[in-house]
Amino acid sequence: MKSLDRIFDNRRVMKSAQGSPSATIAGTPSLSSLFDLVSDEMSLVEDWLKSNLIDDNTFVEELLKQIFHAGGKRIRPLIVLLSSKATARETGKLSRLHIILAVLTELIHTASLVHDDVIDKASVRRGQETINKKWNDRIAVLMGDLLFAQASICLARIMNPVVVGIYGQVLGDLCSGEIKQMRQQFQTKVDWDAYIEKSVGKTASLFSAGSHSGAILNGCSNETIQNLKDYGLNLGICFQIVDDLLDITGSQKETGKAVGSDLRNGVVTAPAMFILEAGDANSARLKELIDTRAICEDAGAEEALAIIRNNGGVEKTVDLARSYADKAIESLKDIKDSSYKDGLATLANYVMTRTT
Ligand code: FPP
Ligand code: MG
Repeated sequence: MKSLDRIFDNRRVMKSAQGSPSATIAGTPSLSSLFDLVSDEMSLVEDWLKSNLIDDNTFVEELLKQIFHAGGKRIRPLIVLLSSKATARETGKLSRLHIILAVLTELIHTASLVHDDVIDKASVRRGQETINKKWNDRIAVLMGDLLFAQASICLARIMNPVVVGIYGQVLGDLCSGEIKQMRQQFQTKVDWDAYIEKSVGKTASLFSAGSHSGAILNGCSNETIQNLKDYGLNLGICFQIVDDLLDITGSQKETGKAVGSDLRNGVVTAPAMFILEAGDANSARLKELIDTRAICEDAGAEEALAIIRNNGGVEKTVDLARSYADKAIESLKDIKDSSYKDGLATLANYVMTRTT
């Protein structure tokens, strides 16, 4: 691992032009219009990821490139930048600390996925072979750790103990969320509170940290900080529910992940839970497939997918996700009007319609 801040020392964070094109678009929201609102800052984030993820060891450096060249949607840094700009003293104007915050949020996310692929025994991520598949679990665990280490150094650079505490809490939440999910594997007793709780831990905690830490750095009121915290929390829950839905309805070409892998791993999520709680013949058959572990095999997984798709599991899950997207948008009502605030609302609508 080499030293950080190759970019930041020599470059100023530029102020994006005010009055950028409105991000609110009728129909399917466009993610690119949201990235346009933070384009200067996002290119600094990308520059950081390209320039700082280097290592004395060429093998480690090759792995870092493999992880970051595979892409990623960059939704978490987008949330950090939009919410920071929406609450900046001079609307839209950020400091290098906000860029570091966006970088470290993406680093933590990526590190957690490298570990998650070990836990899930996943072979494909972002359309590429995972580190655990291409190399092995030990290397993947250590590469994830290396990225967490980079994130910790970024966190130290922010020099704000409250933000350090928030992200420290997130690291714990990610782990406990994953452990809760493991403990719920192959469970057919429907417990919505437990499902939402583990979704908060594994996903929404990081969204929420990213959505309100910029406001803390901006010295905003407790009310503004709380509103943005609620925004991220609800958006993160919505994001995870849509993620669970895409495991049932998505295509590997678009998501970059194998379809039905949650089911095969016995991870029972919202679409399956709606079927299980109906108490009819479909519930009984799905329960049997899960109880007998037939769901782990191709035929059982295909049958379970068909039961869920053909009996309202998808539609009910969309409604559930929508309720959290609406709560996220509602949390923004007292944030001062700007194109960045509109962007955060549009992002919630994008998350609802995403296919990748
Ligand atoms: C993806 O979930 C995984 C996460 C959102 C979080 C994973 C967190 C960990 C593995 C713990 C991280 C470790 C430390 C040390 C903080 P998913 O499997 O539902 O999504 P996927 O379909 O993209 O794999
Ligand atoms: Mg996974």
